[in-house]
Amino acid sequence: MNKTLLVSDPHYFRIAYEINPYMHTGAQPDKSAAVAEHQAIVSAHLAAGRKIEYVASEPDCPDMVYTANAAVVRGDQAVLAKLPPQRQGETPYHRAWLKSRGFQVLDAPYDFSGQGDALACGDFLLTGYGQRTDRRMLAVLADHLGYQVIGLRTVSAQWYDLDLALAVIESPHTLAYCPEAFDELSRQTLEGLGLDLIEVSLDEARGFALNLISDGSTVTMTAGAPRLAGELRDRGLTVVELDTTELRKGGGGIRCTALTLDNPQL
Ligand code: ARG
Repeated sequence: MNKTLLVSDPHYFRIAYEINPYMHTGAQPDKSAAVAEHQAIVSAHLAAGRKIEYVASEPDCPDMVYTANAAVVRGDQAVLAKLPPQRQGETPYHRAWLKSRGFQVLDAPYDFSGQGDALACGDFLLTGYGQRTDRRMLAVLADHLGYQVIGLRTVSAQWYDLDLALAVIESPHTLAYCPEAFDELSRQTLEGLGLDLIEVSLDEARGFALNLISDGSTVTMTAGAPRLAGELRDRGLTVVELDTTELRKGGGGIRCTALTLDNPQL
């Protein structure tokens, strides 16, 4: 899992609008720092033995560096996102890229945040709804991708995408999550899945600790979450901690900058 990733570049990355609570048009990313930060993330993926594919960013798409929101992919099937209006200009580029690589592409009929709200763990697709994803997408994803879709609801726009509140550490059995980010029913749902659950504190989760990429042996995550990093190391994982100062100005982190292309078919 997470051995083949689609990334873009921060060439046109800027805060042109505010569509999540972290974005402020008065706090723009530093261009060269953003390029260096993104390059360090890509280098860490390559050092971990991951294959990287690229989709070029476009001038009219200031959030395109966050490729996780493009779609969700399983095998050769992709379900494209239906993003907030400010980001819809990205979708034709994502559609074209996926088609050019031979993926069968379905347009989402309802609001859908792509992999930002749809994390695969074995046969489960942990799917956030109620923020950027319409509840009706749960059935679409189950039908089209054949996953057992588990609907989860976060409690506020601070967790506008599921990948801020939950992370897959080892597919198919280990997750990390912030209990306070979920409503009561969703917490019970998560606890009832029979998976190993690592609890992450509210303060570390607020600092994008869960917006990480794990391939089951190396975890690439933000710096500044020593308790989660320590817990993952205690479990025998290699943990690489990186600066995400610029990316967080857009409300994202490491997970947001990569779309997983190798979610296995059953
Ligand atoms: N500025 C972007 C937005 O609000 C950030 C997206 C981050 N992506 C993610 N998967 N959480 O849409």
